[in-house]
Amino acid sequence: MSRVEVLKQPDESWWKEAVVYQIYPRSFNDSDGDGVGDIPGITEKVEYLDSLGVDVVWLCPVYDSPNHDNGYDIRDYRSILDEFGTMADWEALLDALHARDIRLIMDLVVNHTSNEHDWFQRSRQRDGEYEDYYIWRDGSPDEPPNNWESVFGGPAWTYDDDRKQWYLHLFDENQPDLNWRNSDVREDIKEMITWWLDKGIDGFRMDAINFISKTDGLPDGDLDEQLVGHQHYAHGPHIHDYLQEIYDDTLANYDAMTVAEMGGTSIPQAAEYLVEGQSGLDMVFQFNHMSVDEGSDGQWTLDEWGEWDLTEFKEIVTDAQGELATTFWDALFLGNHDLPRIVSRFGDDGAYHEESAKLIATFLLTLRGTPYIYQGEEFGMTNVEFDSLNQIDDVMTIGKVEELFETGSIDSFEEARGLVNYWSRDHARTPMQWSDAPNAGFTDREPWLEVNDNYHDINAETALADEDSIWHHYRSLIDLRHEMDTLVYGTYELLLPDHEQLYAYIRTLDEEQLLVVLNWSDEPAMFRTGIETNDTEVLLSNYESSPDSPLEREFRPYEAVVYRL
Ligand code: GLC
Repeated sequence: MSRVEVLKQPDESWWKEAVVYQIYPRSFNDSDGDGVGDIPGITEKVEYLDSLGVDVVWLCPVYDSPNHDNGYDIRDYRSILDEFGTMADWEALLDALHARDIRLIMDLVVNHTSNEHDWFQRSRQRDGEYEDYYIWRDGSPDEPPNNWESVFGGPAWTYDDDRKQWYLHLFDENQPDLNWRNSDVREDIKEMITWWLDKGIDGFRMDAINFISKTDGLPDGDLDEQLVGHQHYAHGPHIHDYLQEIYDDTLANYDAMTVAEMGGTSIPQAAEYLVEGQSGLDMVFQFNHMSVDEGSDGQWTLDEWGEWDLTEFKEIVTDAQGELATTFWDALFLGNHDLPRIVSRFGDDGAYHEESAKLIATFLLTLRGTPYIYQGEEFGMTNVEFDSLNQIDDVMTIGKVEELFETGSIDSFEEARGLVNYWSRDHARTPMQWSDAPNAGFTDREPWLEVNDNYHDINAETALADEDSIWHHYRSLIDLRHEMDTLVYGTYELLLPDHEQLYAYIRTLDEEQLLVVLNWSDEPAMFRTGIETNDTEVLLSNYESSPDSPLEREFRPYEAVVYRL
């Protein structure tokens, strides 16, 4: 049987037609003046989200947490972090979103918990049924059980003086990995998932979910892997069984969507999760297109970063869009809370700030898949310049810089400055720029992380007031997507694969054909295809006057046009 025949995915569904907006609560909107964003602050902005036209909100973790990794270290899955508000506040947010037909998906972080979670506290005391809830190993205190490295830098093991054993943590030492082999762990997780679904949510974004199953015996990893050990915890032996079990016992009973974060996953591998009987997922965040500007050894290597090649980028995107398109539903994104700002990374946040931000938006919202917009992207928020490590909050940036010091690769921050300013996750976490008011209207008090000082020019209020702004371009693209099934379900055909400046493709559904032409460069570029058309129509452009025809002409820097052929 071919893969197409075993597809589980419905042909049409609300989550394929949706545009998702991601909120990082700590940085979104502070309603009570403590410098930290909160849930009532989000509720105040539901009208804003509705005016943008988005269909789903993905809320990053709001659960009780000691915040070593800003909420991705959960202390209690069923309560809300005090700083963010109460469960009643959360319920009010859900109601406010649903009242405007916006759905809500929550972050599901179950590869690990916080070390302050009750399960870990009991586990470290070898308390009865919890003894085996985490991944514990014997060994002398100066020699970890294997050579695995943590994603955030340093070894993936920490010795616990209470239990006199090592525990595994693929992320920070405050985020111990749960032992998914233990069926009690899985039962607890399923109960928690059902508890949230019964509260009326519309699905989950599943954090680092391809890491939950580890190779038997936890063998050493190859030293030449980018992250030593990755081969033994990514897509481990029981991953599909575990995910299928979760699906069958919880999600299958609800009209809920799932999007699984899967770092280090090839496109065919990602597609395997979307096949019937293999895991019950709807779509996958795969990161292949996000590696184009990493050096050959991945992110956070000192000698190479930042250069990327459009032809390579097109090839990777086309792999996901093209050949596998019948089986694979893509999650479309270029930014999120872990990544630099998209206009700084893939556009030009100087001379062509507006044009390039609009071009990137056009790309994200005209591909096949479900688009994800990260807060602030809709009016072109940019990276900041960090002058010292003191300005950084992000546990990953700090861990990576410490590792560079420890391995003797650097002697001063200056030597890592370029790297930090390229990759730091804090670029995405600076407060949302609502207006020109002090602290960008995010808070009345000192914000938990410095506001980007370009907020006087780049902010939501200014963008809303200007009909030609990046914000209104997003709004128009979202409208277009809602109106035209071709943008959602149409096939994708790449034109000019070898062109170094132009990215052009055709979306086709039944009789309708749309052509998207993007000049992804700061130089003019000649578009020449031989497509024969008499009456083309510009549906949307990021330049004031893009002619309906001729199609074959010089495209201006970062010009982005959607045509109906
Ligand atoms: C995911 C999250 C990231 C977090 C990590 C550990 O990659 O997106 O923010 O630090 O998982 O939970």
